[in-house]
Amino acid sequence: MTMHHLQIGNGQTIPAAIFDDPREFGQFTAERIRDLIAGATRDVAICFATGATPLPVYERLVEMHAAGGVSFERVNAFLLDEYIGLPEGHEQSFATFMRRHLFDHVGLPAARFHAPNGRGYNPVEESRRYRETIDAVGGLDLTLLGIGPNGHIAFNEPGSRADEHVRLVALAPKTREANARFFGDLDQVPKHAITIGIADILASRRLILMATGAGKAEILERALRGPITPDVPASFLQTHPGELTLVADRAAAARLIA
Ligand code: F6R
Repeated sequence: MTMHHLQIGNGQTIPAAIFDDPREFGQFTAERIRDLIAGATRDVAICFATGATPLPVYERLVEMHAAGGVSFERVNAFLLDEYIGLPEGHEQSFATFMRRHLFDHVGLPAARFHAPNGRGYNPVEESRRYRETIDAVGGLDLTLLGIGPNGHIAFNEPGSRADEHVRLVALAPKTREANARFFGDLDQVPKHAITIGIADILASRRLILMATGAGKAEILERALRGPITPDVPASFLQTHPGELTLVADRAAAARLIA
């Protein structure tokens, strides 16, 4: 692992941890989460990303918990987003994904798992409820983010604004194509989702942006060094006033780090 002070587009620098080995990538990020929980004097609110990128992180957290190294008893866990319309317990629902990969294995109390309900009749009302749930715990202490090939963060697709909160969104064709690998067939991928907004992400006290693989190199450079624009929603991260850390493998960071 190498630690860098990465110059980003607004003239600021952010810490960037760059890895050769996915296991180390997972270990580093899991340790940040463990340390945040261990150091907190009150409940901790963490918003978790689904997708392929964070899987090594969740594997390490499960191992750490089994070894007695981390407790989720005082964590309020949130999801970035959820598809609309998948039946309860559907393999690809993000709630199911997070239970299967993390929450079922780390003793997270059921009442502390918060997710948008993608099966309700009124997604606008559900979005309001979810935002209030985040507010009720005092906002997010840490948000884990992946980045979509089109620069989306959570499901804030190109065109999203920095002042938008939790809401119903239509998924971009590129996002549905990228996620078809999980559904086996493009037709099965939902067309809508509820996502936390860029404003909610920017209000999170800490952010960890995770990216792996050469396929993310170009968009990661545009996000962190390119113009701040709704065309690349992740570019709004450059304006985050708190602690933003990049955790990436060498392939994803290739255009940022010599
Ligand atoms: C997941 C999410 C998405 C993913 C992004 C990258 O909850 O909101 O923004 O983080 O699509 O996905 P992967 O990691 O599968 O490349």
